[in-house]
Amino acid sequence: FVPKGAGGGTGGQAAKDALGNDVKTNAWLATHQKGDRSLTQGLKGDPTYLIVTQDGGIESYGLNAVCTHLGCVVPWVGAENKFKCPCHGSQYDSTGKKIRGPAPLSLALAHTTIAEDDTVLFSTWSETDFRTGEKPWWN
Ligand code: FES
Repeated sequence: FVPKGAGGGTGGQAAKDALGNDVKTNAWLATHQKGDRSLTQGLKGDPTYLIVTQDGGIESYGLNAVCTHLGCVVPWVGAENKFKCPCHGSQYDSTGKKIRGPAPLSLALAHTTIAEDDTVLFSTWSETDFRTGEKPWWN
């Protein structure tokens, strides 16, 4: 199977669930509520949050969960609507934008797209970071 767009600029790598299976959009949305942020395996094997939008779709970006301070995996704290790093207290808003240090930078972004077979794909985010208006620091 070749994912839609493979070999072109819009290809991608399948998001993997905790069991290592490809994440399928419909199955994921059946078991994850609006506003959900759950970890998948993303680009380069990095833990990456897949986000369910308020209208019940897959958000167009995923968030690399690796803290930009010293690399702890940052948990999502839904009750506070932010990501809070347990290691040294850095905080990021619901889009992964840094709101408290010592982390120097916001969480890295990845594009998400849906392949023809319903698999969620991640691909490199090389455009401007919409949260900061700056070039991506992660490329
Ligand atoms: Fe996250 Fe230090 S590794 S605050």
